[in-house]
Amino acid sequence: MLIHTIKEVREQVKEWKKLGLTVGLVPTMGALHNGHLSLIKKAVEKCDRVVVSVFVNPIQFCPGEDLEKYPRTLEADTKLCDDAGVNIVFAPSPAEMYGENQMRTNDFLTYVIPPFFYVNKLCGKSRVGHFDGVCTVVNKLFNIVQPDFTFFGEKDAQQLIIIQKMVKDLNIPVEIIPCPIVREESGLALSSRNKYLSDEDKIHALALSKILNNIKNCYKKGITDVEALKETAYQFLDEHHDLEYLEFMNQNDLEETTKADDTTRVFIACKVGGVRLIDNILLGEK
Ligand code: PAF
Repeated sequence: MLIHTIKEVREQVKEWKKLGLTVGLVPTMGALHNGHLSLIKKAVEKCDRVVVSVFVNPIQFCPGEDLEKYPRTLEADTKLCDDAGVNIVFAPSPAEMYGENQMRTNDFLTYVIPPFFYVNKLCGKSRVGHFDGVCTVVNKLFNIVQPDFTFFGEKDAQQLIIIQKMVKDLNIPVEIIPCPIVREESGLALSSRNKYLSDEDKIHALALSKILNNIKNCYKKGITDVEALKETAYQFLDEHHDLEYLEFMNQNDLEETTKADDTTRVFIACKVGGVRLIDNILLGEK
Protein backbone atom coordinates (compact mmCIF):
# COMPACT_ATOMS: atom_id res chain seq x y z
CA MET A 1 0.00 0.00 0.00
CA LEU A 2 1.44 3.38 -1.03
CA ILE A 3 0.83 6.16 1.51
CA HIS A 4 1.90 9.80 1.23
CA THR A 5 0.68 11.30 4.52
CA ILE A 6 1.92 11.07 8.10
CA LYS A 7 -1.66 10.88 9.37
CA GLU A 8 -2.48 7.75 7.35
CA VAL A 9 0.71 5.93 8.39
CA ARG A 10 0.03 6.74 12.03
CA GLU A 11 -3.56 5.43 11.80
CA GLN A 12 -2.44 2.19 10.18
CA VAL A 13 0.39 1.59 12.66
CA LYS A 14 -1.99 2.29 15.55
CA GLU A 15 -4.27 -0.51 14.29
CA TRP A 16 -1.32 -2.93 14.11
CA LYS A 17 -0.14 -2.02 17.60
CA LYS A 18 -3.66 -2.59 18.98
CA LEU A 19 -3.41 -6.15 17.64
CA GLY A 20 -0.01 -6.59 19.33
CA LEU A 21 1.87 -6.87 16.02
CA THR A 22 5.56 -5.93 15.74
CA VAL A 23 6.47 -3.20 13.26
CA GLY A 24 9.70 -2.90 11.25
CA LEU A 25 10.90 0.23 9.47
CA VAL A 26 13.37 0.31 6.58
CA PRO A 27 14.26 3.97 5.88
CA THR A 28 15.38 4.57 2.28
CA MET A 29 15.71 7.32 -0.30
CA GLY A 30 14.29 5.01 -2.97
CA ALA A 31 15.97 3.86 -6.20
CA LEU A 32 15.85 0.49 -4.51
CA HIS A 33 18.47 -2.14 -5.39
CA ASN A 34 19.40 -5.55 -4.03
CA GLY A 35 21.15 -3.91 -1.06
CA HIS A 36 17.85 -2.36 0.06
CA LEU A 37 16.04 -5.61 -0.75
CA SER A 38 18.31 -7.48 1.65
CA LEU A 39 17.23 -5.08 4.44
CA ILE A 40 13.60 -5.42 3.41
CA LYS A 41 13.85 -9.22 3.35
CA LYS A 42 15.29 -9.23 6.87
CA ALA A 43 12.53 -6.88 8.05
CA VAL A 44 9.78 -9.05 6.53
CA GLU A 45 11.28 -12.15 8.19
CA LYS A 46 11.60 -10.54 11.60
CA CYS A 47 8.52 -8.32 11.90
CA ASP A 48 4.76 -8.87 11.63
CA ARG A 49 4.35 -5.67 9.61
CA VAL A 50 6.89 -3.67 7.59
CA VAL A 51 7.00 -0.04 6.51
CA VAL A 52 9.54 1.10 3.91
CA SER A 53 9.97 4.87 3.73
CA VAL A 54 10.97 6.34 0.38
CA PHE A 55 12.02 9.95 0.83
CA VAL A 56 14.82 11.86 -0.86
CA ASN A 57 15.57 13.99 2.18
CA PRO A 58 16.52 17.49 1.00
CA ILE A 59 18.12 18.56 4.28
CA GLN A 60 20.83 15.90 4.14
CA PHE A 61 22.15 17.12 0.78
CA CYS A 62 24.85 19.79 0.85
CA PRO A 63 24.92 22.68 -1.64
CA GLY A 64 26.25 21.44 -5.00
CA GLU A 65 25.32 17.80 -4.32
CA ASP A 66 22.98 15.66 -6.42
CA LEU A 67 19.59 16.43 -4.77
CA GLU A 68 17.93 17.35 -8.08
CA LYS A 69 19.31 14.48 -10.11
CA TYR A 70 19.10 11.82 -7.37
CA PRO A 71 17.22 8.90 -8.99
CA ARG A 72 13.49 8.88 -8.19
CA THR A 73 11.78 5.63 -9.18
CA LEU A 74 8.75 5.43 -6.88
CA GLU A 75 6.62 3.24 -9.17
CA ALA A 76 9.32 0.58 -9.53
CA ASP A 77 10.19 0.87 -5.82
CA THR A 78 6.57 0.30 -4.81
CA LYS A 79 6.33 -2.77 -7.04
CA LEU A 80 9.55 -4.23 -5.55
CA CYS A 81 8.22 -3.61 -2.04
CA ASP A 82 4.84 -5.17 -2.83
CA ASP A 83 6.56 -8.26 -4.23
CA ALA A 84 8.78 -8.47 -1.15
CA GLY A 85 5.80 -8.48 1.24
CA VAL A 86 6.08 -4.90 2.53
CA ASN A 87 2.84 -3.60 4.06
CA ILE A 88 3.30 0.15 3.60
CA VAL A 89 5.50 2.22 1.32
CA PHE A 90 5.55 5.64 2.97
CA ALA A 91 6.52 8.27 0.39
CA PRO A 92 5.89 11.75 1.80
CA SER A 93 6.59 14.99 -0.05
CA PRO A 94 9.20 17.37 1.40
CA ALA A 95 6.34 19.68 2.44
CA GLU A 96 4.58 16.81 4.24
CA MET A 97 7.76 16.13 6.22
CA TYR A 98 8.89 19.67 6.89
CA GLY A 99 5.94 21.96 6.12
CA GLU A 100 5.78 24.47 3.27
CA ASN A 101 7.39 27.29 5.22
CA GLN A 102 10.17 25.23 6.73
CA MET A 103 11.18 24.04 3.28
CA ARG A 104 11.74 27.65 2.31
CA THR A 105 13.59 28.63 5.50
CA ASN A 106 14.86 25.33 6.82
CA ASP A 107 17.19 27.13 9.23
CA PHE A 108 14.15 27.38 11.49
CA LEU A 109 13.67 23.63 11.68
CA THR A 110 14.45 21.82 14.95
CA TYR A 111 17.44 19.63 14.14
CA VAL A 112 18.94 16.59 15.83
CA ILE A 113 22.68 17.25 15.87
CA PRO A 114 25.01 14.29 16.44
CA PRO A 115 28.26 14.88 18.39
CA PHE A 116 31.05 16.70 16.55
CA PHE A 117 33.47 13.84 17.33
CA TYR A 118 31.34 11.51 15.17
CA VAL A 119 30.78 13.89 12.26
CA ASN A 120 34.05 15.79 11.85
CA LYS A 121 35.58 12.84 10.00
CA LEU A 122 35.04 10.50 7.04
CA CYS A 123 31.99 11.62 5.01
CA GLY A 124 31.09 14.32 7.54
CA LYS A 125 34.26 16.23 6.72
CA SER A 126 33.31 17.00 3.12
CA ARG A 127 29.52 16.77 3.64
CA VAL A 128 29.09 19.41 6.34
CA GLY A 129 25.62 19.21 7.89
CA HIS A 130 24.83 15.92 6.16
CA PHE A 131 24.49 13.88 9.35
CA ASP A 132 22.36 16.59 11.01
CA GLY A 133 19.93 16.11 8.13
CA VAL A 134 20.10 12.31 8.39
CA CYS A 135 19.56 12.23 12.17
CA THR A 136 16.73 14.74 11.94
CA VAL A 137 14.81 12.82 9.28
CA VAL A 138 15.46 9.40 10.85
CA ASN A 139 14.28 10.71 14.21
CA LYS A 140 11.13 12.06 12.54
CA LEU A 141 10.54 8.72 10.81
CA PHE A 142 10.95 6.91 14.16
CA ASN A 143 8.38 9.27 15.71
CA ILE A 144 5.96 8.83 12.82
CA VAL A 145 6.18 5.03 12.46
CA GLN A 146 7.21 4.09 16.05
CA PRO A 147 8.85 0.88 14.86
CA ASP A 148 10.00 -1.93 17.16
CA PHE A 149 12.87 -2.72 14.77
CA THR A 150 14.69 -0.70 12.15
CA PHE A 151 17.16 -1.89 9.52
CA PHE A 152 20.30 -0.09 8.34
CA GLY A 153 23.03 -1.23 5.96
CA GLU A 154 26.69 -1.42 6.96
CA LYS A 155 27.54 0.13 3.58
CA ASP A 156 26.90 3.51 5.23
CA ALA A 157 28.78 2.48 8.38
CA GLN A 158 29.37 6.02 9.68
CA GLN A 159 25.63 6.70 9.33
CA LEU A 160 24.80 3.44 11.13
CA ILE A 161 27.18 4.22 14.03
CA ILE A 162 25.80 7.76 14.36
CA ILE A 163 22.21 6.51 14.39
CA GLN A 164 23.10 3.87 17.00
CA LYS A 165 24.55 6.67 19.11
CA MET A 166 21.45 8.86 18.62
CA VAL A 167 19.10 6.01 19.60
CA LYS A 168 21.15 5.30 22.73
CA ASP A 169 21.60 8.93 23.77
CA LEU A 170 17.97 9.90 23.18
CA ASN A 171 16.51 6.66 24.61
CA ILE A 172 14.56 6.00 21.43
CA PRO A 173 12.64 2.73 21.92
CA VAL A 174 13.72 0.95 18.73
CA GLU A 175 16.14 -1.91 18.08
CA ILE A 176 18.56 -1.29 15.23
CA ILE A 177 19.38 -4.32 13.10
CA PRO A 178 22.62 -3.76 11.14
CA CYS A 179 22.71 -5.56 7.77
CA PRO A 180 25.87 -6.57 5.83
CA ILE A 181 26.99 -4.86 2.62
CA VAL A 182 25.64 -6.43 -0.57
CA ARG A 183 28.10 -6.53 -3.49
CA GLU A 184 27.98 -7.23 -7.19
CA GLU A 185 29.85 -10.40 -8.18
CA SER A 186 32.74 -8.11 -9.17
CA GLY A 187 33.03 -6.87 -5.57
CA LEU A 188 31.48 -3.43 -6.18
CA ALA A 189 29.30 -2.45 -3.20
CA LEU A 190 25.71 -1.77 -4.29
CA SER A 191 24.63 1.87 -4.15
CA SER A 192 21.91 3.95 -5.76
CA ARG A 193 24.69 6.21 -7.07
CA ASN A 194 26.20 3.32 -9.09
CA LYS A 195 23.56 4.34 -11.67
CA TYR A 196 25.78 7.32 -12.50
CA LEU A 197 28.76 5.09 -13.43
CA SER A 198 29.62 4.19 -17.03
CA ASP A 199 30.77 0.61 -17.80
CA GLU A 200 34.36 1.83 -17.78
CA ASP A 201 33.89 3.70 -14.50
CA LYS A 202 32.54 0.49 -13.00
CA ILE A 203 35.83 -1.26 -13.74
CA HIS A 204 37.83 1.56 -12.13
CA ALA A 205 35.40 1.53 -9.18
CA LEU A 206 36.56 -1.97 -8.29
CA ALA A 207 39.68 -0.37 -6.79
CA LEU A 208 37.70 0.38 -3.62
CA SER A 209 36.82 -3.23 -2.78
CA LYS A 210 40.23 -4.43 -3.98
CA ILE A 211 42.00 -2.01 -1.61
CA LEU A 212 39.83 -3.08 1.32
CA ASN A 213 40.18 -6.81 0.67
CA ASN A 214 43.93 -6.47 0.22
CA ILE A 215 44.24 -4.55 3.50
CA LYS A 216 42.25 -7.26 5.26
CA ASN A 217 44.48 -9.99 3.80
CA CYS A 218 47.61 -8.12 4.91
CA TYR A 219 46.09 -7.71 8.40
CA LYS A 220 45.28 -11.42 8.55
CA LYS A 221 48.94 -12.09 7.69
CA GLY A 222 49.97 -10.10 10.75
CA ILE A 223 50.48 -6.49 9.57
CA THR A 224 48.80 -4.18 12.10
CA ASP A 225 50.63 -0.88 11.54
CA VAL A 226 48.04 1.41 9.94
CA GLU A 227 50.58 3.44 7.94
CA ALA A 228 51.99 0.22 6.44
CA LEU A 229 48.47 -1.02 5.64
CA LYS A 230 47.60 2.33 4.01
CA GLU A 231 50.69 2.07 1.80
CA THR A 232 49.31 -1.12 0.23
CA ALA A 233 46.43 0.86 -1.31
CA TYR A 234 48.38 2.91 -3.82
CA GLN A 235 49.04 0.02 -6.22
CA PHE A 236 45.28 0.01 -7.01
CA LEU A 237 44.96 3.75 -7.66
CA ASP A 238 45.71 5.71 -10.85
CA GLU A 239 44.54 8.83 -12.66
CA HIS A 240 40.97 7.48 -12.75
CA HIS A 241 40.72 7.71 -8.96
CA ASP A 242 40.34 10.77 -6.76
CA LEU A 243 40.87 9.36 -3.26
CA GLU A 244 39.05 11.38 -0.59
CA TYR A 245 39.97 9.29 2.43
CA LEU A 246 41.24 5.92 3.59
CA GLU A 247 40.82 5.75 7.35
CA PHE A 248 41.10 3.15 10.11
CA MET A 249 38.70 3.57 13.03
CA ASN A 250 37.21 1.67 15.90
CA GLN A 251 33.92 0.36 14.62
CA ASN A 252 31.98 1.22 17.78
CA ASP A 253 32.95 4.83 18.43
CA LEU A 254 34.85 6.00 15.32
CA GLU A 255 38.04 6.58 17.32
CA GLU A 256 40.98 6.75 14.91
CA THR A 257 43.60 4.03 15.37
CA THR A 258 47.27 3.64 14.44
CA LYS A 259 47.36 -0.08 15.22
CA ALA A 260 44.70 -2.25 13.62
CA ASP A 261 42.82 -4.95 15.53
CA ASP A 262 39.66 -6.99 15.02
CA THR A 263 37.45 -4.02 15.97
CA THR A 264 39.00 -1.79 13.30
CA ARG A 265 36.81 -0.78 10.39
CA VAL A 266 38.58 0.54 7.30
CA PHE A 267 36.66 3.28 5.50
CA ILE A 268 37.29 4.50 1.97
CA ALA A 269 35.77 7.26 -0.17
CA CYS A 270 36.94 7.84 -3.72
CA LYS A 271 35.58 9.64 -6.76
CA VAL A 272 35.47 7.63 -9.99
CA GLY A 273 34.26 9.36 -13.17
CA GLY A 274 33.10 12.25 -10.95
CA VAL A 275 30.92 9.92 -8.84
CA ARG A 276 31.67 9.77 -5.12
CA LEU A 277 31.73 6.17 -3.91
CA ILE A 278 32.18 4.81 -0.38
CA ASP A 279 32.94 1.37 0.97
CA ASN A 280 34.26 -0.19 4.18
CA ILE A 281 35.36 -3.46 5.75
CA LEU A 282 35.62 -4.75 9.31
CA LEU A 283 39.04 -6.37 9.81
CA GLY A 284 37.83 -8.84 12.46
CA GLU A 285 34.97 -10.23 10.34
CA LYS A 286 35.39 -13.82 9.14
O1 PAF B 1 20.82 5.86 3.89
C1 PAF B 1 19.89 6.52 3.37
O2 PAF B 1 19.32 6.16 2.34
C2 PAF B 1 19.45 7.81 4.04
O3 PAF B 1 20.52 8.49 4.60
C3 PAF B 1 18.34 7.60 5.08
C4 PAF B 1 18.82 6.77 6.26
C5 PAF B 1 17.14 6.93 4.44
C6 PAF B 1 17.89 8.96 5.64
O4 PAF B 1 17.39 9.78 4.65
